[in-house]
Amino acid sequence: MTSVKLADISYGPPGGSLLFNNLSLEIGTERVGLIGPNGSGKTTLFYIIMGLLRPDKGAVLLNGRQVDDGRAWRQLRRQVGFLFQDADDQLFSPTVLEDVGFGPLNIGYSESEARQRAEATLESLGLAGFEDRITHQLSGGEKKLVALATILVMAPDILLLDEPTNNLDPTTRKRLVAILEKLNLPMVIISHDFDFLAKTTDVIYSLEQGHLHRSESSHLHSHPHAHPYGEHPHDHGG
Ligand SMILES: Nc1ncnc2c1ncn2[C@@H]1O[C@H](COP(=O)(O)OP(=O)(O)OP(=O)(O)O)[C@@H](O)[C@H]1O
Ligand SMILES: [Mg+2]
Repeated sequence: MTSVKLADISYGPPGGSLLFNNLSLEIGTERVGLIGPNGSGKTTLFYIIMGLLRPDKGAVLLNGRQVDDGRAWRQLRRQVGFLFQDADDQLFSPTVLEDVGFGPLNIGYSESEARQRAEATLESLGLAGFEDRITHQLSGGEKKLVALATILVMAPDILLLDEPTNNLDPTTRKRLVAILEKLNLPMVIISHDFDFLAKTTDVIYSLEQGHLHRSESSHLHSHPHAHPYGEHPHDHGG
């Protein structure tokens, strides 16, 4: 079983105020929903987990070991699949098949094996027949699914999904719920889509002023009264 731990992370963007102050989180057993206002640092937290940003303080641990050199980061990125908030950040090949086959080719699969894996993954996402489509001509929702395919084709142990339902219509969103359920992997899902989180996660962390507040997904609700957690879903404990 793979586990990723954030240990006492503090980080502020250059010139900005501190987004996290001694934040700790363990990923590897649960399906976690991550909510929080725009700009609270959710995406930044994923960048730190993936080593795309270095924290000012604290460490990322993979299976209990600090990730601190290129080899360890490569290992982490093999085991943790990260879906970018913006699919255009993820997709870079001319065609869908090249984009989805890129990862498998890159880790040494033959061209025909890579193709087979890519095709099977596309099919599992309802994208059979998309192989030769031009990536940059896809719709927003199609791009999101192809981006997800580039991750799932690598058979990750843990998923980090940044707003996976953005641009998805209700039918596709339902299909995504079913796909994630079937995968049965530990994951962290950033979303403002509370109904989706209630269906896909066990526990919710709300990122507020640099701290994580934990609650069960089933307790999720929102109401507009004056409240330190603001207007997004939270629970009152108990
Ligand atoms: N490279 C950067 N330089 C300066 N500030 C940055 C940089 N990257 C992000 N920020 C700031 O850090 C804060 C957190 O950004 P982040 O993208 O993590 O928020 P978020 O919680 O994902 O928001 P959203 O829900 O809108 O996606 C924002 O105020 C953003 O402007
Ligand atoms: Mg974000």
